[in-house]
Amino acid sequence: MDIFGSSEPAKILVVDDHPFSRVMAVDLLIKEGYNVLDHEGISDVLTTVLATSPDLILMDIKMPQYNGFEVCQRLKEDKRTRSIPIVLMSVDDDNQSRLKSQEVKADGFMSKPLERMVILPEVELLIQRKRLYEWLEQIQQVLFLISKAIEKRYAVDETSCIRFDQLAQEFGTYLNLTPVEISDLILASHLHDIGTVAIPDAVMMKQGKLNEYERELIKQHVLIGEEICRPMQNRRGIAQIIRHHHERWDGSGYPDGLVGETIPKLAQVFQILDIYEALTSQRPYKQAFSPQEALKIMTEEAEKGWRNRELVQNFVDFMEKIQGKA
Ligand SMILES: [Fe+2]
Repeated sequence: MDIFGSSEPAKILVVDDHPFSRVMAVDLLIKEGYNVLDHEGISDVLTTVLATSPDLILMDIKMPQYNGFEVCQRLKEDKRTRSIPIVLMSVDDDNQSRLKSQEVKADGFMSKPLERMVILPEVELLIQRKRLYEWLEQIQQVLFLISKAIEKRYAVDETSCIRFDQLAQEFGTYLNLTPVEISDLILASHLHDIGTVAIPDAVMMKQGKLNEYERELIKQHVLIGEEICRPMQNRRGIAQIIRHHHERWDGSGYPDGLVGETIPKLAQVFQILDIYEALTSQRPYKQAFSPQEALKIMTEEAEKGWRNRELVQNFVDFMEKIQGKA
């Protein structure tokens, strides 16, 4: 079993029309314990790849019916196969071939005949990388399922989530945020309160006033959420939103009591979108405020010092613009 929990040997597809070099590659990889399939490069490679789902493809660039560069490009453009690492190989080890292999997004280039000491570490590294991405993807899916369960628990309806996503897209574009930052805002809308999963229902759903202990317990949800989402290290913006979405501009928020611009910008933007969406949504315990009432409340909170006044004003201007009042 490898570190990502797979007990199956990795499956490698060797595509080469030359029988001798194909058998050499297959033998070498079988001896290392891989599950090896071979393809003579005559029938359609994509069909074989879709039917066998290899963990890695080792492919010659010159075949009678196909050009390995073109096949590689096609596989990398197809969303069903683009995550499979491809190592191209050739007897012509020149700069042009190496450059071309980079252009078609190949993950590696090897000269033939293959050398055991060169190919094996490369193959193992690429397979582990693929399994790591698959593992992270599975974790992300689990996190989203948990977040969906939480949204149901607090009666957050689907339309509210769709409205948030659209608003985040439009306001993010208005603020000139990057596509990744906008995507972080949208993903965070589903994950920011995931830490509440660890807070007892008796506290989370309590109707009356919370005592000091209960308030402190609820505050823990931002730290628990950050911990739960730690595997998503490639999305640092999301982690910042989860941790800091209850900070206040004047330092009276939690968990770190950050002041002003020390609060990550994306967390500030998220907070404004989240508050607006919460105020204008109907929940079992409250009626929805109108957009004008919500903007008034948010402006009052900014004047109290809780929010970045400039950013709140940007949001008010943006809302007036999209509502056709500007
Ligand atoms: Fe929260």
